[in-house]
Amino acid sequence: MTIEERGLSVILLGPPGVGKGTQGAILADSFGWERIVTGDLLRAARREGTELGRKAQRYMDAGDLVPDGLIVALVRERLQQLPEDRGIVFDGFPRTVAQAEALAIALPELGREIDAVLLLEAPDEVLVKRISGRRSCPQCGRVFNVHFDPPISEAICDECGARLDHRKDDQPETVRHRLAVYRRETEPLVEHYGRQLGAVLRVDGVGSLDEVAAGVQRALNTHLELEAQA
Ligand code: AP5
Repeated sequence: MTIEERGLSVILLGPPGVGKGTQGAILADSFGWERIVTGDLLRAARREGTELGRKAQRYMDAGDLVPDGLIVALVRERLQQLPEDRGIVFDGFPRTVAQAEALAIALPELGREIDAVLLLEAPDEVLVKRISGRRSCPQCGRVFNVHFDPPISEAICDECGARLDHRKDDQPETVRHRLAVYRRETEPLVEHYGRQLGAVLRVDGVGSLDEVAAGVQRALNTHLELEAQA
């Protein structure tokens, strides 16, 4: 059975700016999978002025994690909306052991399980440069980078012509705090999933978009081949 047909559930782990969003979008496009991107769901809730958006705002602006209860409810709701047979890439979730435990309960209720956890890795100086150059379109969601993938016209989205955003939590001070929060709250998931699944698939996040995407595909294919032989 091909990766497309299997409808896998894959978690993308990694520090801020490593390329989870970029690679998650490539995986979803390549295989027709759905994406659950908690950062995007929260930013949409903020734009729409919902109660969740209002509650999440101060945590996000400070670079802190939004409380687990709010996030788990959001992901559970989103999971219910997805077609049963479609693969899913989780990007930015889970981010704490408590979130991982909640996902381990929610997925089997839907007849799913976690098939693979991919960890994208890059040194802090690469992350800081990528984040400082990121510009996102609030309208169509396309992400640019002024250093690596600039828009044709500065500050304007090539796709839809909207004015591009520089995320408030992408300021250098907040980025340093987000990295510290990642090390404290999210990095323990590498050991957690290593124990639970036997392996976390490490992928070098340094390189061009295509090189990193090829690393992701290789890691996933090798993992699935080994599983099939077991
Ligand atoms: P979230 O939006 O998830 O932020 P993050 O995890 O910090 O990740 P980023 O979006 O910063 O980076 P990325 O790894 O997706 O990189 P990207 O592909 O964009 O979360 C924001 C906030 O929401 C959190 O701080 C928290 O408050 C809250 N939140 C979200 N989920 C939560 C949860 N589960 N629990 C609690 N709170 C939660 O790439 C970055 C830039 O680099 C882009 O410009 C891109 O174009 C460029 N780039 C990517 N790959 C390459 C490459 N290979 N070469 C050159 N440039 C590249």
